[in-house]
Amino acid sequence: MSVLKFSIPEIFFGRESLKYSSVCAKRLGAEKIFFVTDPGLEQSGWIDVLFDIFEDENLEWVHYSNVASNPRDWQIHEGADLYLDEGCDVVVALGGGSPMDAAKGIALVASNGGRVQDYEGANRIQRPLPPMIFMPSTAGSGSDVSQFAIVTDVERRVKMSIISRTLVPNISIIDPILLTTKSRELIISSAIDAFAHAVESYLSPIAFSITEIHSLKAMELIMKYLPRALQSNDLDDLEQLSIAGTSAAMAFSNAGLGVDHALAHSLGGMLDVVHGLIHPVLLPHVLRYNMVVCLDKVADIGRIVLGRSLGTPEATAKAGIEKLEAYFHSLGVATRLRDIVSDRVNLSQICEMAIQDSCVLSNPRVATVEGLMQICEAAW
Ligand SMILES: [Fe+2]
Repeated sequence: MSVLKFSIPEIFFGRESLKYSSVCAKRLGAEKIFFVTDPGLEQSGWIDVLFDIFEDENLEWVHYSNVASNPRDWQIHEGADLYLDEGCDVVVALGGGSPMDAAKGIALVASNGGRVQDYEGANRIQRPLPPMIFMPSTAGSGSDVSQFAIVTDVERRVKMSIISRTLVPNISIIDPILLTTKSRELIISSAIDAFAHAVESYLSPIAFSITEIHSLKAMELIMKYLPRALQSNDLDDLEQLSIAGTSAAMAFSNAGLGVDHALAHSLGGMLDVVHGLIHPVLLPHVLRYNMVVCLDKVADIGRIVLGRSLGTPEATAKAGIEKLEAYFHSLGVATRLRDIVSDRVNLSQICEMAIQDSCVLSNPRVATVEGLMQICEAAW
């Protein structure tokens, strides 16, 4: 067996773990924190809780919250300038994927210089980043664990994937209590995103035993606990979604994603749609596209979705995909591409951009523009 690498941050997991944020920051040498969040979170009340925690440790901080859903390149540059002007030393982020990805971009540009576009793709970061502590407020993006940062290049209307070991935060503090203040829509879109991370990392040609265990467990938990959590809003159920999101993130960060995410990034860059809501449209068709080369693995996914195996791997795989479509439908989300893309003529441009995304490289079946068009046509 060849030597394999599995990178994750130090993880604090559990209810009220947020209170460890300032101790962690001090341990990493913080005197002046650069704190990143988004306007939505400012209204949630969690910011005040966190600032009290910072104050208790006599920490200073600079607060940056000019972060859009799907963070923009110019926001990264604005944040990096502020980080340097203020002489900050540790980056702390609280929020969903957008503020965490923005925080990674800010840490990157502040320490390595240039523009965020200079680092698009895999392994292009040369110098170390400042210490990072991330606290996810959703259970899905996995940015608090992963080697990925996704930033929108406004001029090109492209969501850039930046992938590097140095983008893994030093510490991830996962407090499931934060999920109790999230809307139904956000819980759904985050959980579906985590499910897509789990599926794509499981099918990746660079998946291995440690990533596969996390992928499978994440799928199992989301199938079981998402419907329960939506009904109950109970912390026990939400906590299971947090575990699922973290497991899926540990898997995809180390095994990569696939063409579902390549297309989702392309669609997101062009149309600024909610990332997690693109997967119900694409994922079943991506599974059908990929199952030609990894039938047994798609059957494993089918077994989890169905809760049992059928007579053959092919029957289990096909029935699992159909059940997954019904599951997405039951959540009340859009399941056809025409509900997201207004004009069919945009599809070829979306596929042309998607084929250049780094996620294509870890798809199990070789992807071509024609293949991506085939998926989009099936999803239309
Ligand atoms: Fe995602």
